[in-house]
Amino acid sequence: MPALSVRSFYERYPYPQKAADHLSGDILPSSFDAVRHHCWAGRWPAGRSFRALVAGGGTGDAIVSLGLSMRRRGIAGSIHYVDLSKASAEIARSRAEHARLDNVTLEVGPIETVRGEYDYIDLSGVLPIVGDPAALLRHLASLLVDDGAMGVMSYGRVGRTGVEPFRRIYRTVMGDNVDTAAARELIAALPPHNWLKANPKLGVDLDRIGDVELADRLLAPHEFAYSVTELAEMFDRAGLPIRAFIPSLLYEPAHLLKSADLRDRLAGLSYIERAQIAEDAQGDLNKHVFYAAKIGTAPIDIQGLLDRDDVVLLPRNLDCRGMSSALADGADAVSVGIRIDGVERSVTIRGGAEAARFVAALEGEPTVGGLRSSISDDTIRYMSRLLVAVEALHFAVPSS
Ligand SMILES: C[S@@+](CC[C@H](N)C(=O)[O-])C[C@H]1O[C@@H](n2cnc3c(N)ncnc32)[C@H](O)[C@@H]1O
Repeated sequence: MPALSVRSFYERYPYPQKAADHLSGDILPSSFDAVRHHCWAGRWPAGRSFRALVAGGGTGDAIVSLGLSMRRRGIAGSIHYVDLSKASAEIARSRAEHARLDNVTLEVGPIETVRGEYDYIDLSGVLPIVGDPAALLRHLASLLVDDGAMGVMSYGRVGRTGVEPFRRIYRTVMGDNVDTAAARELIAALPPHNWLKANPKLGVDLDRIGDVELADRLLAPHEFAYSVTELAEMFDRAGLPIRAFIPSLLYEPAHLLKSADLRDRLAGLSYIERAQIAEDAQGDLNKHVFYAAKIGTAPIDIQGLLDRDDVVLLPRNLDCRGMSSALADGADAVSVGIRIDGVERSVTIRGGAEAARFVAALEGEPTVGGLRSSISDDTIRYMSRLLVAVEALHFAVPSS
């Protein structure tokens, strides 16, 4: 079996494996609401066209998620997809057609030669496999307008524990050949305490996943996983400082620590230092999703937005009715299981009638002013912060 280049690898294993009529839900970072919230503080001028580039778009998750979320919000614009793999592009094209997206153009080729001007660039799962990420980022930065932003998914160094030693074993035995049957044999031979097999997110389901998932997870031609700090340095150097790792709950270590003294010490650290502690402490973040922008770091001012009556609250993938009845039933502390894009976390929420009414009202995408007539500022603030921290809520500021 011959060694595969990145292009031939994804011709053989178009990723992720999706049916030609699969409509993706709202995926991060490729959700218009999330992009507007994090990159433009909830503001997108009425009438401004949104030009997006989906770089290394694979089988089309990002174009479908972005396209459908733009349509939902009545945002005009275009989405340009580029990928080396023709097989992936064909699936992406069918999915875009199935979703009746008429503003998508598809190009088969390298990201490195794309030209044009974009407001937003989506780069999901590509940094981990490109040989020269610094050069790629410099090129992408040159395509962004001055207030342009990027949404990125990269592999997380700590959460990928076990992958690198396995790849070393595989390469030594198999060379550059990509052979999922051989990989499965090698995996079966590993003892249970091997770090890959013991990895709770990447190792426990290896005998249940298909060849495409197995190949992408373990056998891609290159493998680069980055820590939060490495990503921050890489993006700073490219002139694209990171604005936010999301969901922010996963990158804030304060709630892991009980002692006031330790929490005070944390408060004196930089955003990236705290996020690095969170990555090291949790250990299972095998992907980092984040937004970066030329205009730099400026975490969204939640309080400033909640002070405005006209700000609209947009729930994301939230079972408003189910959560509302759980909150109504439990007056003090309700533990709600939240699946945050692959990571399961349980969040404790102060329950009660007001919290329940707040969540029920979200279904109608209310304004802050509309909520204020029946819900206290304290509950609006508390619930909004919490749901924003798990990416279940975004803000939109109306513009004329
Ligand atoms: C792991 S897949 C991710 C696909 C998709 N972005 C997602 O997150 O679902 C990586 C994709 O990047 C593409 N790719 C890698 N390097 C590329 C390059 N230099 N130019 C264009 N596409 C590239 C591959 O062909 C593959 O489809």
